Amino acid sequence: MEYKAIKELPTKAGELVTIRGWLHRVRRQGKLIFFIIRDYSGYVQAVAKPSIGKAKFVIAEQLTRETAIIATGLVKEDKRAPYLGLEIQIKSIQPALNIASPELEQEIRPDSGPQVYLDKRHLVLRGERASDIMRFRDLTTRGFRKFFFERDFVEVTPSTIVQTQVEGGSTLFGFKYFEQDAYLTQSSQLYLETLLSSLGNVFCILPSFRAEKSRTRRHLTEYTHIEAEMPWFDFEDLLNFMEDMIIQVFTSVYNHPLRIQLNPDLQLPTKPFERVSYERAIELLKEYGIKGENGAFLEYGDDITEGPERTLVDTIGKPTYLTYFPTGMKPFYMKVNETNPEVMNAADLLLPGVGEIIGSSQREDNLEVLLERMKEENLSPEPYYWYIDQRKYGSVTHSGFGLGLERFVQAMLNLDHIREACLYPRLINRATP
Ligand code: 4AD
Repeated sequence: MEYKAIKELPTKAGELVTIRGWLHRVRRQGKLIFFIIRDYSGYVQAVAKPSIGKAKFVIAEQLTRETAIIATGLVKEDKRAPYLGLEIQIKSIQPALNIASPELEQEIRPDSGPQVYLDKRHLVLRGERASDIMRFRDLTTRGFRKFFFERDFVEVTPSTIVQTQVEGGSTLFGFKYFEQDAYLTQSSQLYLETLLSSLGNVFCILPSFRAEKSRTRRHLTEYTHIEAEMPWFDFEDLLNFMEDMIIQVFTSVYNHPLRIQLNPDLQLPTKPFERVSYERAIELLKEYGIKGENGAFLEYGDDITEGPERTLVDTIGKPTYLTYFPTGMKPFYMKVNETNPEVMNAADLLLPGVGEIIGSSQREDNLEVLLERMKEENLSPEPYYWYIDQRKYGSVTHSGFGLGLERFVQAMLNLDHIREACLYPRLINRATP
């Protein structure tokens, strides 16, 4: 039996076809039964009439929503039909294995709260919006890979079981690795840096883990981290490179029907992005009347937390690099600025709607300064011997970044909550399903 994919049907008008898929919706109208059939490639309306014969019609009448079916019918153009402007006039339709339980109708109801939607995420993902977002996410991931491969990057997959921290001890998930202490990685950056001298430009797309106690609309405890590291790149090279990447990935999905459907208002960013130093940002927050969570204005040295950060970039209204953070505010691996040691060559990229989507920096390439910074952060050098060796054996100017894929999708689609951008969200109180 040759099965047609639903996306092929527009070229099959007048032909008898067999398709297989799931019953997305079932509706009785008088003597007719209307089905919306779903497969991996789309949706199509099909109609069963009593004229197909009593035995076949009785089978059609028993079919419930989400039953997996095999159907044969005539493809007929019908401008009124939803989705494809065509309809399948069923000759026969039968369950592939069994009829889906009618309990499905009780699983999620219109008044179900967000926890039910999360508990039933495996069913929610069959819905149009959730599956469209997953497809859009896939397009975006391909956009990033294409960008990297066009520039001769090598994709690698460092281990996510580690014994060193990257982004501070407070968000580490620790566990017993047989007899030893280990963590789930916060970032693969340090491993990427070890590859520069052999592979050159490298990137990875892997989960990172953060034991985030914060319950916000943009924090997950496990997220997909797109990280890249580039030898010979100084800070300016890094900022230009990330600008090109963001614009290319936006452009790669911009004309796709899914983007137009999911966020018709998306604006294509243009070069150059705004660049605002941390020092200037503190001034701007005051000028714009944006206060911190405790109701007071932020002062130099304060962390620019999520609320003010987002309001700031929403006010600026375009992608913005927040640069030159005070030394010590950011992790040990970031390069201390050579002319002004008070600040680091670091940049967060903020997008309107979400705020920070990228953390980036030039890396500290000077062995003495690196060891000094580790001391200041109370990090013992021993477990980092392999990282420190990079500065001993052929140190080079280099830079890199990490981008949170879910935050990026959230920003592109203007999603209320980051959980909509991932398959099975891991949140402070949830690791199921
Ligand atoms: O700014 P972060 O912590 O930077 C690093 O981990 C660097 N070592 C990356 C690098 O340079 N290779 O995280 C980078 C990005 C953030 O900008 C954000 O998009 C995302 O990772 N991110 C999270 N996304 C969802 N939930 C969380 N809890 C996240 N924490 C960070």
